[in-house]
Amino acid sequence: MIRARRLVLALAALAGAPALAAGALQDEEPPLADLGRPLVHYATIARNDGAFRRLWIDEASLARARRGEPLPDGTTIAMETFYGPQNRATVFTKLKQGSAWLYGSFEPGQPDWTGLKAKTVCHACHIDAAEDLTFTLPVLAKFGETRSVARLLCDQPGRVPCDATFYDHAGAP
Ligand code: HEC
Repeated sequence: MIRARRLVLALAALAGAPALAAGALQDEEPPLADLGRPLVHYATIARNDGAFRRLWIDEASLARARRGEPLPDGTTIAMETFYGPQNRATVFTKLKQGSAWLYGSFEPGQPDWTGLKAKTVCHACHIDAAEDLTFTLPVLAKFGETRSVARLLCDQPGRVPCDATFYDHAGAP
């Protein structure tokens, strides 16, 4: 099974358009929830344990996002997490202030953007992202150009970062 998924991913990556295997999320995209800010959906990333995340960014920052460049001051990103289409979990947030990222979270349906702060636990993992502490920067930059929501399958469980080439390929022109 895992091998088959890898193959699908490899083929999709070769085609320059990584796609979600089996079309699962296209059919089962959960209804939209209030995130407390007007954000646009740029990607859905599924994990090999059945969990998936839906990622959102503010339009003004999206317009200025470019591969290989830091995101602009004020960039606002939310990431919903799901353990199945009916099973919503925490929404993770981050906000760029100056050159620093502030992190936060809230429970689904109870948006709260107060109290974002520099969090070591988030930073410690995001430091491994190739660009600007943001794993999905290439993905969102491409969405800004194409307006086509990325639907990706990462062959890792939970929050384990995918290989850097995964995000890079997903954002390749
Ligand atoms: C163990 C690693 C890890 C930790 C710890 C972690 N993240 Fe992430 N985060 C990721 C990965 C990997 C992604 C990219 C999405 C994916 O591959 O599923 C991501 C994506 C995000 C995104 C979408 C924008 C981006 O950077 O691509 C937000 C927002 C986010 N995380 C917030 C948080 C917050 C808030 C915390 C701390 C409470 C946190 N993360 C802790 C691994 C981590």
